[in-house]
Amino acid sequence: MPGSSLRVLFSAQQIQTRIREIGAQIDADYPDGSLHLVCILKGACFFMADLARAIQRDVVIDFMGISSYGQRKSTSGAVKLTKDLDSSVEGADVLLVEDIVDSGLTIAYLINVLQQRKPRSVRVAALLDKPERRHTPVKVTYVGFQIPDEFVVGYGLDYAERYRNLSDVCVLEESPAA
Ligand code: IMP
Ligand code: MG
Repeated sequence: MPGSSLRVLFSAQQIQTRIREIGAQIDADYPDGSLHLVCILKGACFFMADLARAIQRDVVIDFMGISSYGQRKSTSGAVKLTKDLDSSVEGADVLLVEDIVDSGLTIAYLINVLQQRKPRSVRVAALLDKPERRHTPVKVTYVGFQIPDEFVVGYGLDYAERYRNLSDVCVLEESPAA
């Protein structure tokens, strides 16, 4: 987009290496039984696809859609469910798979929604975590990388629906006006 440039923050290879580590950790942590991976659309779909294949144990995958930022770079504060799960999570270990936890509002809302459905457990795996931006405290059990307060795109993350298909995670930098 005019007036902005991309700087690689995490390469595709760094991302894959880290995801293999998280997958092994998840295999080690969970007891036997069904693990439900819940992908938060749309940003987490690439992370979910790679994470699911880094996990050796049995998993079920499902998807939840929520309203996005649209053209903006910060949260509107309101979270709307646009697609619900296909299957019940009652008694299941649920792992919410998210691209990035920023203010924490989205994930706090989703944890609350899922807890009402009586799962055995609910945890969060996020590729990226921006702890400086948090105003709703949430526990993120599995974090790919912590990042500073910068706007990132790629590997599923978008700005106004663009850049999701980049293989790397990049900082979207706005060039100073000429
Ligand atoms: P939160 O509710 O503020 O934690 O926002 C989480 C959601 O905001 C993520 O699922 C992303 O869709 C979006 N988001 C937050 N930070 C970024 C970013 O740096 N790049 C792209 N999307 C972001
Ligand atoms: Mg998202």
